[in-house]
Amino acid sequence: MGVNLKGRSFLTLKDYSKEEIEYLIDLAIDLKDKKKKGIFERHLEHKNVALIFEKPSTRTRCSFTIGCIDEGAHPEYLGKNDIQLGHKETVEDTARVLGRMFDGIEFRGFSQDTVEKLAKYSGVPVWNGLTDEDHPTQVLADFMTMKEKFGRIAGLRFVFIGDGRNNMANALMIGSAKMGVDFVIAAPKELWPDEKLVELCKEYAKESGAKIEIFDDPKAAVKDADVIYTDVWASMGEEAKLAERAAVLRPYQVNEELFAATGKDSTVFMHCLPAVRGYEVTNEVIEGPMSVVFDEAENRMHTIKAVMVATLGD
Ligand code: CP
Ligand code: NVA
Repeated sequence: MGVNLKGRSFLTLKDYSKEEIEYLIDLAIDLKDKKKKGIFERHLEHKNVALIFEKPSTRTRCSFTIGCIDEGAHPEYLGKNDIQLGHKETVEDTARVLGRMFDGIEFRGFSQDTVEKLAKYSGVPVWNGLTDEDHPTQVLADFMTMKEKFGRIAGLRFVFIGDGRNNMANALMIGSAKMGVDFVIAAPKELWPDEKLVELCKEYAKESGAKIEIFDDPKAAVKDADVIYTDVWASMGEEAKLAERAAVLRPYQVNEELFAATGKDSTVFMHCLPAVRGYEVTNEVIEGPMSVVFDEAENRMHTIKAVMVATLGD
């Protein structure tokens, strides 16, 4: 049986199987190749797509916008001051109104509950463009980049360093557990991921053959890493905590000394961006030959396009 994602929402990778995730990544690789050759198949002709952003965005917003236009759809940006969502109107009512007008809805904001309600009440595919808890489209781009660099995803050793309980740590742990990636978090104990999520991912890992490990010693964690990944120390909405975070996360900065501790010369550096140089990563690492951060950024567009084509395309 082939994979068919028509009509599905994309809220978290918890809802997707290994085969479905692999399908989306391979579709993105195909769409990337076609775009480079100037081939546009316009799978989303006459579709209208709402892009709701409660939080700012460069990559995600541009990826949805360009993905729509390349495929013949109309994207409509709805910023936090443009619509009534959550202020003058309930999420449920806004969802039902948008569902009558639009064929698909992207949501970036604070609460995972909001994106789930939008999906439940709109009746059209809803795509999670980041919440406090999750960032599933980023993981597709990251895994696509790994497939391009290493020729495979399963079996790689992936080390996430920094705020081990933010949306990226969560999403990468879910994705790794589903895909058979050996996933390591290196973080101070107070920033370790939610125990329930770790248990859930360990369940997924039983099926895929992935391993999930949590360290507080960054040097021990990076040994044999194929990928070292980090993210900002204070996520959107947590800016007031930056000084406190910097105090505990300073030993977890990804710098050349930490990179050398992998014991491998093939390790790549990944970051979802935007990055704060001098905090979670040094300029030498993010600008170094091991850095693939701009491939990841480009792949956001191809993978987001793949999600829209797979769930909404003709
Ligand atoms: N990585 C990512 O989601 O970037 P933006 O915040 O710019 O969308
Ligand atoms: N953890 C970051 C990811 C940005 C893409 C944030 O939520 O701000």
